[in-house]
Amino acid sequence: MLVLGVESSCDETAAGVVADGFSVRSNVVASQMDVHAEYAGVVPELASRAHEEKMLGVVDEALRLAGCRPRDVDAIAIGHRPGLIGSLLVGLAAGKAVAWALDRPLIGVDHVHAHLISGLLPEAGAAPGGVEAGFPALGLVVSGGHTAIYRLDGWLAIRRLGGTIDDAAGEAFDKAATVIGLAFPGGAGIDRLGSRPGADDHAVEFPISRIAPDSLDLSFSGLKTAFLYAARGVPGPGGVYQRDGASLSEERKSDLAASFQRAVCRAIVLKLERALDRLAEPGGPAVSTLLTGGGVTANTRLRAELAALAARRRIALRLPRPEYCGDNAAMIASLGWQALRAGRRDAIDLRAEPTTAC
Ligand code: KG4
Ligand code: ZN
Repeated sequence: MLVLGVESSCDETAAGVVADGFSVRSNVVASQMDVHAEYAGVVPELASRAHEEKMLGVVDEALRLAGCRPRDVDAIAIGHRPGLIGSLLVGLAAGKAVAWALDRPLIGVDHVHAHLISGLLPEAGAAPGGVEAGFPALGLVVSGGHTAIYRLDGWLAIRRLGGTIDDAAGEAFDKAATVIGLAFPGGAGIDRLGSRPGADDHAVEFPISRIAPDSLDLSFSGLKTAFLYAARGVPGPGGVYQRDGASLSEERKSDLAASFQRAVCRAIVLKLERALDRLAEPGGPAVSTLLTGGGVTANTRLRAELAALAARRRIALRLPRPEYCGDNAAMIASLGWQALRAGRRDAIDLRAEPTTAC
């Protein structure tokens, strides 16, 4: 079954064609990074307009690269939640139009849940590898908009165990990057600086949020403030900072970035350990897999720490290939296929929803 996936929840316009859930035929992503860079954040109205401009071209390109005509597509999967409402509506309108014109079924997909399947996707054009997730699984989504931990008993049985109570991890990365003068979105820039040989990850002992002894929630807003003060100094009378973060030496920036990454990774791994302990309690399920996704899973240090965690706990780790870490439509088509083969369908009045299902 060939599924066309459509994604437009935030600032990436994406379409992709996936055969039988895991064979990626095409995965086209048009980024809007340049549009939002000068504002150091995504401007919703500009995002909607850019989706509007790019969507049809992106869908055409995805079909062309997949080597198929529109009528070869068997179903359309649309990322319809969560996200910026104006952005979601563009993808939803395009996906519905294709489904209606071709008389094909459509299915709405939760974008955050779709990140969890991205670690199972092979390179576009390659044969799918081992596609068994191994349930029950623990799931981690770390992106610019979301950071949460899930228990999965199947692709359609996803339960949120905990998550950030304030900012997403990627938001903290982006703000930290802005403070030291890196371009938006700066997660990759912090990664590059923090991974430099000689960078001291104990240069600053940033706070690692624990929230409560048994909590599976996370918090990154305190870390953001601590990073701001470490870079610019504590503001004096009138809120005037002692220095400009962008003017720090490259060495100091690297130390700050390394220390920041250590704190983010420690907080995430701590909560995953807690979740694994909780699920391993007598009568609890034996978790066999850690499924991960979201833009921050591109982070070098986080990938290494997740690999070490999986080895310690003897569970399989599914990390997305680089092209599937961030927002993409192959993951939407892949999770959509799981719902379609379970017999689910949505009607043409499917709505865009700003929040995730759980
Ligand atoms: O999943 P994504 O593309 O969009 C959302 O659904 O939010 O994630 C984007 C986020 C941004 O905050 C970006 O800075 C971050 O992922 N990111 C990284 C890295 N690459 C992208 N964060 C840390 N290290 C990276 N290498
Ligand atoms: Zn995302």
